[in-house]
This record gives sequence, structure tokens and C-alpha cells, in this order.
Amino acid sequence: MACQPRLSGRWQWVKTKNRIEDLAIFGAKPAFEEPLHVGRPNIGRRESFLERVNAILDRRWLTNNGPCVQQFEHAVAKFLGVRHCVAVCNATIALELAIRALQMKGEVIVPSFTFIATAHALQWQGITPVFSDVVPSTHGIDPRRVEELITPRTTGIIGVHLWGKPCAVEALADIAHRRGLALMFDAAHAFGCSHQGRMIGNFGRAEVFSFHATKFLNTLEGGAITTNDDELAVAIRLMKNFGFAGQDKVVCLGTNGKMNEISAAMALTGFESMDAFVEHNRRNYRQYMEELEGLPGLHIFPYDESEKCNYQYVVLEVDDTASPLSRDELMTALRAENVLARRYFYPGCHRMEPYASLFPDAGAHLPETEKLTRRVLVLPTGTSVGTREIRLVCHIVRLALTHSTLVRKRICEQIRLGL
Ligand SMILES: Cc1ncc(COP(=O)(O)O)c(C=O)c1O
Repeated sequence: MACQPRLSGRWQWVKTKNRIEDLAIFGAKPAFEEPLHVGRPNIGRRESFLERVNAILDRRWLTNNGPCVQQFEHAVAKFLGVRHCVAVCNATIALELAIRALQMKGEVIVPSFTFIATAHALQWQGITPVFSDVVPSTHGIDPRRVEELITPRTTGIIGVHLWGKPCAVEALADIAHRRGLALMFDAAHAFGCSHQGRMIGNFGRAEVFSFHATKFLNTLEGGAITTNDDELAVAIRLMKNFGFAGQDKVVCLGTNGKMNEISAAMALTGFESMDAFVEHNRRNYRQYMEELEGLPGLHIFPYDESEKCNYQYVVLEVDDTASPLSRDELMTALRAENVLARRYFYPGCHRMEPYASLFPDAGAHLPETEKLTRRVLVLPTGTSVGTREIRLVCHIVRLALTHSTLVRKRICEQIRLGL
């Protein structure tokens, strides 16, 4: 199943990357011939997928609630133990649909430390996203800040289970209940994860998953809304299909949020290999933990292994008050080696447009978010990354840290020369 990226030269050669001049930023050959990506897709059994695609072509039922979509929705609902799963074309549309079905308007409180789609899904519908700070230990929205941000215009809260780690579900539910607000979750990263033994997908009024190519389970592009609220599920089903309640009968405003059959075939195929994906990701996560342990200022974001988790993200935090290299310097050294580690969610939604212009002072109220956007570096993992690659990535990190003064000098020089 795994398609491993090729290392430069022979593995033996890697062992000689021990001196400072062996680092690619000093002109040496990059460690990886081909880029090592953060989120190369997890692909299940190709033959299963192709069999399904052939059946779809034979049926000529390509979209409009086809049998693969229906099967996928049932499989997800059963897997999560939730009453309803509505499959859609991507998670951004899923967020928009859930927000509209929950009748959110005015202001809605969201974290700024998230993918931009969480905020855009509100702003797109004329709703103001009000950015809250996050808790450093979970990277999730801080309920104490949420409470302070509520105004007479607030109608809802959207928590995000970043990296698949559950945010403060109970505290947020309590606030929503006391203050009469709608609560939903952006669970784009959290398919297959649990909170206190209950699968993510069951919390709040609705939860939204992404099945984008980079996600743990992918449908090429895709998403889903899950809910235990029967009426909400009916409303979302209508809205995702233009408001059609039968042929020639449109009963509400709607859009085109349908998932197609090929996407659902990909999902069903991925579903069959999910345990293997988790196992592979968990192995990678543990290896990074072990190999980077004890390096000053470096800290891998920990998952609670007593819960279900997809381990899809290996998140390194670089505290430059303790680390000899900053996050960006480390990233530059890695990228020179073709290790495409990525800053996430840099620079924070509040520093991207249109929000930077709308709320120019937001950063002053988001100290933890600002800190995380300077610290977080997501490392390559997934089923196309294995033991050897991780060993080499960690080796490069250690080598760069050992020679931090010269590495920093070299990077400054490159910047000065515009390289
Ligand atoms: C937290 C979060 N929310 C929403 C989305 C949007 O998902 P999609 O690409 O399926 O629209 C993403 C995508 O990466 C995400 O990371």
C-alpha cells in the first residue's frame, strides 16, 4: 500500500550526512530526491477502488445520491454511532450548510488558530467571525475567552478539534446552554477520533468532517455533516440539493453540496484500510516522539493514546526561547533537504484577509494563537512515509541544531542575497 519516496543515492550515503557541509543548505545534495510531503494521500486497495469505479460507470449513476454515497453515509453513521451522516462535496460547503441550518447570524465565536475555511464559511454568509484565543495544551478554543466575547449579537460557537484532538467539548456545551447559543464543531481533522470514549461526530448540534485528499480518510475532495438531530439532518439534506423535496418541488433556499459517486467509492475503499492507516500513523508519531525526545525547545504535540485517534498530524512545536534554531530556520534547513515540513495555521486567520483589514488589532487579544503560529511546524507522515524517512528527517534536525550558529548565519546570508 505504501509508496515510499526515494532517498538520494543509497541508504549508506545517508549515514555519511554527519558533518555540517553535508547539509543541503550548505550546498550538499538534498537528502531526498523527491519531496517528502506532509499530507500525501492515504490510498487504500487500488483494485477495490477500480472495481467500484467500473461498477459506477456500468450503472451510469454518477451523482445525485447514488448507491456508493448512500453506503458511505450508512457506514460513517454506524462507525461513529451517530443518527445521521450527510455526505457533501467538501468540508467548506459542509460548514456553510451546518451554519445556515443552525440559523447562525450576527456574530459567531471561532478560534483564529484554524484553517481559513472555518472563518470564511461564516463571513461568506454575512456572519462576523469573532476570533477567540486557544488553550496551549490542546490548541483548541479557550472557553474562558469565549465567554468574554459573547455580545447581544452572538448566535453561536464553532469549536475546532485541531489535529484530531478534541477541544473543550463540555465547557463549550455548558456555555452554549447557559447563553442560548448554537454549538457546532469543525471536526475536519478528527475522523476516527474519540472523546471520553465517544466518537467525534456526536458532539454539539452538528459536526463537520473533511475528506480532502490530505485528510486521514479521503474522498479526493469531500466532507460530511453528522448530527443526532433529526430535523437538522432533514434541513441539511434539502439544502445540499438546491432545496429539492421531490421532482419540481423546491421548498427552501439551497445549494449544490452533493458528493459524487467516485468520491464515495474512494471513501469506501479507504474505509477498508482505516485500521492500517491508523497503525502506520501511530508508528510514525511514536518514532518522531522517540527520536526528537530531549532536544531543547522541541516538543511533539501529544495525543491521548487511551482515546481513538487517527494520528494524521505530527505537530512539532519549536520554542525559540529554548531551541538553538527558530521554527522558520529549522523549516528552511529541512526544506533544503526536500523535507516539505509546513507551518500551520500561519499567520492565523486574524492576519489573513479580509479579517486583517476588518480587525487590525485582533492579534493583541490572541497571545496564545500568535505564539503557536510562530511555533508550529507540521512534519511529514502518513502511509507514504516510513521508518527510514523519519530517521533521516530527525537526523537532519539534530545535525542542524548541533550546528545552529553556522546554520543561522547561512540562512541570513541566503536571505541577504535573495536566494
Ligand atoms: C480545520 C479545517 N476546517 C475546514 C477545512 C476545509 O476542508 P475542505 O478542504 O474539505 O473544504 C479544513 C481543510 O483543510 C480544515 O483543516
